[in-house]
Amino acid sequence: MAATAASVCVTVTLLVCVMGGQALELLRVTSTSGNPPSVPTVNCWCASYPNMTFCSWPESSRSPPTHYIATYSERHRHLVTKPCRLIQPGTASSDLVSAPSPSSERLWHCHLPNLKLLTNYILNVTAVSAGGSSSHLSTFMLEDIVRPDPPVDVRVSPHDTKNLLLEWSHPPTWTDLKIFPLKYQILYEWENRGTTKSVNLGPFEGTRVELNGLTAGRTYLFRVCAKELLGLGECSAWSSPVKYTIPRAKS
Ligand SMILES: *[C@@H]1O[C@H](CO)[C@@H](O)[C@H](O)[C@H]1NC(C)=O
Ligand SMILES: *[C@@H]1O[C@H](CO)[C@@H](O)[C@H](O)[C@H]1NC(C)=O
Repeated sequence: MAATAASVCVTVTLLVCVMGGQALELLRVTSTSGNPPSVPTVNCWCASYPNMTFCSWPESSRSPPTHYIATYSERHRHLVTKPCRLIQPGTASSDLVSAPSPSSERLWHCHLPNLKLLTNYILNVTAVSAGGSSSHLSTFMLEDIVRPDPPVDVRVSPHDTKNLLLEWSHPPTWTDLKIFPLKYQILYEWENRGTTKSVNLGPFEGTRVELNGLTAGRTYLFRVCAKELLGLGECSAWSSPVKYTIPRAKS
């Protein structure tokens, strides 16, 4: 056994096509020689169309790589690569509130400035360690990965005897509301004998809506999400819930 070659090279390629609303294609390439870092799991989104696109990936806590290399290119000119500017964990600005971080993982980001509209891009995030390197390749079009940050400042107030007024403010990170307006979806939930009921309403183009037919004395949770008006990409994450109990009519 000791006579086997000192260096081993294996390449594994896996192609995954996610069809449907998000025409996103993932291609993972793992180049190994020895004990390579794990392939980063990369997620990209555009928080303000058309010029605020970020990608993020959690750092493997078991075997953190020594460093990452993130580059991108236009698909039809894939030899011309540009750096995706790396942002270390913990230093992301508040512009990145929608970064999907499920746990206390150290989350890396990189920023892709000035992407062209209706253009296919290839992103390559490579984790490098002494034992080798692993790359995650993804291709996307800006239009498919639009995902605003959630609306903010959601508030509920009594409107008149039966109705209630739900108001919110657009996500502050969405910079170009005049040229690229947003639409909104509303979700409200309540408990009924141990089960959760919910109603989804919208889309609404304004930032306020009157709601009717809610039950006096019942407590509701209200959330709002934001989506690009023409339907590009997906709705933001839901805003954090606002609790409101419908007042009982005074008799
Ligand atoms: C994105 O575009 C908006 C409006 O056109 C501008 O205010 C903002 O500075 C731009 N941001 C970047 C990062 O280029
Ligand atoms: C991805 O980036 C790494 C590091 O720059 C590079 O070695 C590798 O060849 C790239 N992969 C592709 C398919 O371009």
